[in-house]
Amino acid sequence: MARGRILVVDDEEGIRNTLQRILEDEGYDVEEAETGESALGLLESRDYEVVLLDVWLPNIDGLQVLQRLKAAGHTSEVLVISGHGTVETAVKACKLGAFDFIEKPLSLERVVLTVANALRKHRLEERNLLLQDQMKQEVTLVGESKAIALLKEQIRRAAPTAGRVMIYGENGTGKELVARLIHRFSDRAEEPFVELNCAAIPTELIESELFGHRKGSFTGAIEHKKGKFLLADGGTLFLDEVGDMSLATQAKVLRVLQEQTFEPVGGAESIRVDVRVIAATNKNLPDLIGEGGFREDLYYRLNVIPIQVPPLRERAEDIALLCAYYLDFFARQYGRPAKTLSREARQALQRYYWPGNVRELRNLMERLIIMVPGAEIQEGNLLLQTPPSGRSQETMRWTGPIREAREGFEREFIRRALQRHGGNISKTAEELQIERRHLYRRMASVGLQKESDHGHDQ
Ligand SMILES: Nc1ncnc2c1ncn2[C@@H]1O[C@H](COP(=O)(O)OP(=O)(O)OP(=O)(O)O)[C@@H](O)[C@H]1O
Ligand SMILES: [Mg+2]
Repeated sequence: MARGRILVVDDEEGIRNTLQRILEDEGYDVEEAETGESALGLLESRDYEVVLLDVWLPNIDGLQVLQRLKAAGHTSEVLVISGHGTVETAVKACKLGAFDFIEKPLSLERVVLTVANALRKHRLEERNLLLQDQMKQEVTLVGESKAIALLKEQIRRAAPTAGRVMIYGENGTGKELVARLIHRFSDRAEEPFVELNCAAIPTELIESELFGHRKGSFTGAIEHKKGKFLLADGGTLFLDEVGDMSLATQAKVLRVLQEQTFEPVGGAESIRVDVRVIAATNKNLPDLIGEGGFREDLYYRLNVIPIQVPPLRERAEDIALLCAYYLDFFARQYGRPAKTLSREARQALQRYYWPGNVRELRNLMERLIIMVPGAEIQEGNLLLQTPPSGRSQETMRWTGPIREAREGFEREFIRRALQRHGGNISKTAEELQIERRHLYRRMASVGLQKESDHGHDQ
């Protein structure tokens, strides 16, 4: 963690020196200013996390400095130092946004403690702002296909109600994104959105994750722990991969949904909460019910508003939009120049079967921004997975001119051979029993790139 950056503003040299010495002993970077003017000057060029500010200063006094500093949008926490009899002023300072005040004569212990608290608050708030920013950026549902238009409409309708929503969809289609959007557009938007991935947590621990536990209630419960239901109080709890909960846990979750109360593991008291539950799964729950793996009564409780997120290959119109969105997103994030897709690359992406859906597309665009040296991404840069046999009909086209079919087959054939040999042309040519030069020509004619064009890709 970076050292705290602190500014001490006081007109008495003795106090400045004492404060500087003890704060430096605590491991902070300390600078000082003798007047309000010079403090404001310093603040223009540097960000301080905490400012210790004497109230009584010649010319511009502490309160004015405080006012200007806040008005200028500085996020520094301000600790006001007040002389005897100026406590009233100090209280006023707190109303103007100061973090706290310390009275003279200074208790050095209190100074150290209050500075540490102010610094902690400052850093938490900065982090919070950052997270909020990230959340805003991330919650964009890109797509103009009919399927996405319908999805947006369903989100708009479901969000403002308290109705429980069940989101279905394959891996990486955007189920979590949909859950966040529903929360964002609900009247709980300012309250927490808490997520629990039921598949990622061992069955023995799920109950303690959901309901919390009391210290000592089982081996390893060394502290009291708040459960997700309590953390989400007033807001939304997103139960991801809900099909992976054990039957015992399902029974307890059902009870919370019926009664809005639960008991922490090892606790006697019931806790009442107000939580909207949104669940998601990539399993077929009715099938699971048939096999005895999911409670039917819980299913009906959760499945009030079912929402389907369609797989990417069923909305090919969105692929180009999503690619453009994420190329731009990652170019900005990494501070790299923008890139575009060549026509062949765009077509290959359109034909691809996207087993990992939008997550796969997003990861691919991130890699391309980082790894492709040129401004235009070629088809050879993509290195798309080949579908397992039986799925190939989804990427192969069985209609159209035979010339395109032959080319398509040849492209796929050569691509797989290249992949087997890690892109090594000599070895691939040897296997295919043609000359290297000839392989190059074939590759060019079916729109595959030479390895040297991949640059350092992969
Ligand atoms: N329509 C979309 N527009 C923009 N980004 C999207 C879209 N759909 C999904 N994403 C992004 O793709 C990634 C995967 O989405 P998300 O985590 O919501 O999928 P999921 O269905 O919950 O996946 P899993 O089943 O694997 O948990 C996220 O980074 C998400 O922001
Ligand atoms: Mg998910």
